[in-house]
Amino acid sequence: MQDTDSQINRTTVPRHIAIIMDGNGRWALRQNKARTYGHKAGVNALKQTIESCASYGVDVLTVFAFSSENWLRPKQEVDVLMGLFMLTLKNQAKKLLKNNIRLKIIGDRSRFSLTLQEKIEEVEKLTSNNSAMTLVIAANYGGQWDINQAIKRLAKHAKEARQSVDEFEINDFLSTAGLPEPDLFIRTGGEQRISNFLLWQIAYSELYFTDVLWPDFDQNELLTAIMSYSSRQRRFGHTGEQINEQAIK
Ligand code: FPP
Repeated sequence: MQDTDSQINRTTVPRHIAIIMDGNGRWALRQNKARTYGHKAGVNALKQTIESCASYGVDVLTVFAFSSENWLRPKQEVDVLMGLFMLTLKNQAKKLLKNNIRLKIIGDRSRFSLTLQEKIEEVEKLTSNNSAMTLVIAANYGGQWDINQAIKRLAKHAKEARQSVDEFEINDFLSTAGLPEPDLFIRTGGEQRISNFLLWQIAYSELYFTDVLWPDFDQNELLTAIMSYSSRQRRFGHTGEQINEQAIK
């Protein structure tokens, strides 16, 4: 996009962007192709989005790659998604390292094949000291699962430390512990729902829904979403007047 840099310079860039990458299947079916063709195109859109976010100075990009409910899809589609996940990790590891991007996978990885679990660990370890941006991939993830596991781990921790549970914060036990909460939540593909993505973490996120199908989501579309975010006033419970006064100070 022409003039992207000057547009982004005049814009408040979100620190953390979370995306539901929806619409791969419909994108493929519209071209009389198999749904899995759409997922392959979805990987390309993801690569572009990672590059754009890194170049805009976004600190964290979180994407929903596979929900806890996606196991219900036809086995062949699930197999293709698992294969793509493995292939992308293999192909992109060096690029993540070169671009100083840290990879973090959130979700219940115990249901993945052992080879996939090992690959995830390997790439996470390889990129663990990178600091330009954190890429979080939610895989076999559900927001309710996350809250559940956080509460269980918190209770166990408190018991072991012989302290009361209210000495601790749920935030510190979520799979996103240590990361800032998403400022901007994007869903492509036309549906306006959260679909059990980051439930706790998006309490104050700005929501942005677009009809664009994920494989068509490019730098232009990302910029449009960021501009929409940038034009909003985030009040976090304050009045608009209080926020304006703070901006003047
Ligand atoms: C939703 O589209 C998308 C998914 C369930 C998977 C998203 C996966 C990718 C973008 C590629 C793989 C990711 C990695 C990290 C390698 P849909 O199939 O629900 O589309 P539809 O709503 O049009 O049917």
